[in-house]
Amino acid sequence: MTITDSTNSTRHLLDVTDFTVDEIRQILALAEQPIESLGRPLAGLGVSLIFEKPSNRTRHSMEMAVVQLGGHPVYTRGEEVGFDTREPVEDIALIMEGYHALIAARVFEHSTVTRMAAVVGVPVVNMLSDQSHPLQAFADALTMQQCLGDLSGKTVAYVGDYNNVSRSLGEICAMLGMHLRFASPHGFGAPEAELERLALLGAPSVEQSVRPAEAVTGAHAVHTDTWVSMGQEAEKQQRLQQFEGFTVDAAMMSLADPEAIFMHCLPAYRGIEVTADVIDGPQSVVFQQGHNRLHAARGALAFLLGVRPEAQESEGGS
Ligand code: CP
Ligand code: NVA
Repeated sequence: MTITDSTNSTRHLLDVTDFTVDEIRQILALAEQPIESLGRPLAGLGVSLIFEKPSNRTRHSMEMAVVQLGGHPVYTRGEEVGFDTREPVEDIALIMEGYHALIAARVFEHSTVTRMAAVVGVPVVNMLSDQSHPLQAFADALTMQQCLGDLSGKTVAYVGDYNNVSRSLGEICAMLGMHLRFASPHGFGAPEAELERLALLGAPSVEQSVRPAEAVTGAHAVHTDTWVSMGQEAEKQQRLQQFEGFTVDAAMMSLADPEAIFMHCLPAYRGIEVTADVIDGPQSVVFQQGHNRLHAARGALAFLLGVRPEAQESEGGS
């Protein structure tokens, strides 16, 4: 058995911060390129997609991104492979690298994807963990760029739980030069060190409040997510009470920039974290955002497989 040296140069997508700002821009550029221009870097190759949690967008967008890049996606449920129950995470990954050009997983514990990445010589992609959701963040940035133009200097507000989605959103927005505003109830916000980390990534300002109105006022994009993430179902009743007052409604949206967009990674719970008139209203871009999951996934996979945007090829990329 050959165990790949963990110091190998294989690139992984475990977090947004695995990439430089320039590389993030290249992935976003690849996401906008016609499919045919990307070639078929996965021709004749497989991609493993393992899901420990349910999914609609991530499974379908990743399967179709693989198909559009010429490859064959193989879906497996987490229970089937049995991370650390049927066999060790490392054994699963080492077997799969013999079959596939890329391994992607949606996991409970982030360490599952870092452990896989440490032993294999093919890219590992995090399709959502307890820590982060980088593929969502790429689609979010793509959508904001399409709607708002250059994001540098614009303000993004996130109202709700500081969770996997908001952490990755904060990272990509900070790296693209956006002002960050978070609003969460006491005990559900980002720790101070986390806000400092986001500022160091490049955000011109990072603010957090327990008053959603403060975060949303003048913002160009207002995001929220479920108050009860997958795996937190037992806390549901308590959380619904703890997040009272954090529903994004029309009154809250009226405080944002008049041209502001509303965004949600979905699935959404109407009447809980967002009212139906907002998510189904004219400022909402949630379906564009959801469809962009495919384009962003295709761009990210193409980048990991060595494809570079057309305009940058002659410059050699970086
Ligand atoms: N936003 C998102 O990741 O959706 P799914 O859970 O349906 O994949
Ligand atoms: N924060 C949510 C995102 C779902 C796409 C969760 O982890 O369940």
